[in-house]
Amino acid sequence: MTRASVPGKIILFGEHAVVYGRPAIAVPVRQVHVCAEITRLPNTAPGKVLIEAESIQLKKWLHELESNHPLRHTVQSTLKALQLDHVPPMHIQITSTIPIASGLGSGAAVSIAVLRALSLHLQHPLPINVQSELAFEIEKIHHGTPSGIDNTVIAYDQPLYFVSGQQHELLTLDSPLIFIVADSGERARTIDVVQSVREAWRLEKELYERIFDEVGQVTNDARQALEAGNRPTLGTLMDQNHRLLQQLAVSSPKLDRLTQAAREAGALGAKLSGAGRGGNVICLAEEKTKDDILDAMNDAGSAWTLATEIEA
Ligand code: MEV
Repeated sequence: MTRASVPGKIILFGEHAVVYGRPAIAVPVRQVHVCAEITRLPNTAPGKVLIEAESIQLKKWLHELESNHPLRHTVQSTLKALQLDHVPPMHIQITSTIPIASGLGSGAAVSIAVLRALSLHLQHPLPINVQSELAFEIEKIHHGTPSGIDNTVIAYDQPLYFVSGQQHELLTLDSPLIFIVADSGERARTIDVVQSVREAWRLEKELYERIFDEVGQVTNDARQALEAGNRPTLGTLMDQNHRLLQQLAVSSPKLDRLTQAAREAGALGAKLSGAGRGGNVICLAEEKTKDDILDAMNDAGSAWTLATEIEA
């Protein structure tokens, strides 16, 4: 049996603006993960691949999936990268604790877990940069115009500073940071939110470009605060980034309520994370405020919460 497990992610700063060439900062979240397990299928014809993913009630042979299904693309692009035109019969089992369309990178995590496990199983492990590039191509087919940040942070499993089309930079935090992640329970597909931001940008280019510039500035200031371990400044910058995301019309009343409740409970800052219009908020906590913020998120109607520590 071959197994690969990959984390989820949160975007700390710069979502949406990153699609327009501005920088963003993202970190892996290891409390949630996607796991792909591959076993050989005895007494089965060569080339037959059975795919099972309980969380989306899927159990089908690869050739039965529609031609543009992300899992079909993932397996086919792995084989192409390995220059293989057929495979031994196998069973690919995918399990995930990452909620879909919640801003935690479930789509990219499934792609990376499958292509990592598959290339290992075929005894040609693909280098991380190739895994990330292949997952990016799959994101493009299914998410329109992704920046590439999700596949990169999940493949490298490290905090990073990212500008689309450039080599990412790994970030070193001065001191560990605690984030509370709270799920609004609302769901919005990344492709739809990114598309609607694009339509608004087309209509009001000057305004949107100015907001993206401000987000870029906040992200660069946040990088310095992260590297210097300046938590109060980081919190203030998260609040600023949330306000800019409100101006981009990707927040929602529930996301605003959750961020406000987190601040009142002692969070140093709070913002939505990911595409928005649903999904998660993230709140910067300290050891002494962590439990109060978790309680406040539950009281404000969070579907689930988790506390994650980003190591120094
Ligand atoms: C989605 O996790 C982040 C967005 O900025 C889209 C992207 O970067 O591809 C909204």
